[in-house]
Amino acid sequence: MNIQIIEIPKIEEPRGNISVIENDIVPYEIKRVYYLYDVPSGSERGGHAHKNLKQFLIALSGSFDVIVNDGKEKKTICLNKPNYGLLINSGIWRELNNFSSGSVCLVIASEVYIEEDYIRDFEEFKIYASHK
Ligand code: TYD
Repeated sequence: MNIQIIEIPKIEEPRGNISVIENDIVPYEIKRVYYLYDVPSGSERGGHAHKNLKQFLIALSGSFDVIVNDGKEKKTICLNKPNYGLLINSGIWRELNNFSSGSVCLVIASEVYIEEDYIRDFEEFKIYASHK
C-alpha cells in the first residue's frame, strides 16, 4: 500500500526536544498545514480519499488510529509519538478514530484545500481504486 511511516529526527536535550519538518522529510512541496484538536471521545474523522492530495499526519500530542484502505487491503496504524508521521499518498481511503483525550493531529498537505479533490463516497472510491 502506498503509505509510509517516516521517522522525524529529534533534537534531544534535557531542556526538551525539537523535531523539524522540512521538504527533506516529506516528498512534496508543503502547501498547507492544519491541525485537528478538541476531538470528542468516540468521534471519527476522515472518511474520504483524495485524487491528488498527499498528506503527512503526526500525533503531536496523544494518540489516534488511522485506518487506511487502497481498495485491496486495509491497515490500521496507531500514531502516538510526535517524532513519527504517516505519509498517505493519493488514492487511499482513510478514517481516523480512537482519539485519546487532548490529542492533536497535525496534517502537512501537498495541496491547498480543494473540495473537488475529495472522494467522500466509499462505493465511488472502490470504483475509482479499481481503475488504477
Ligand atoms: P475534512 O477534510 O472532511 O475533515 P477530516 O478529514 O479531518 O474529518 O474537512 C472537514 C470540513 O472542514 C469540511 O467541511 C471542509 C472543511 N475544511 C476546509 O474548509 N479547509 C481545510 O483545509 C480542511 C482540511 C477542511
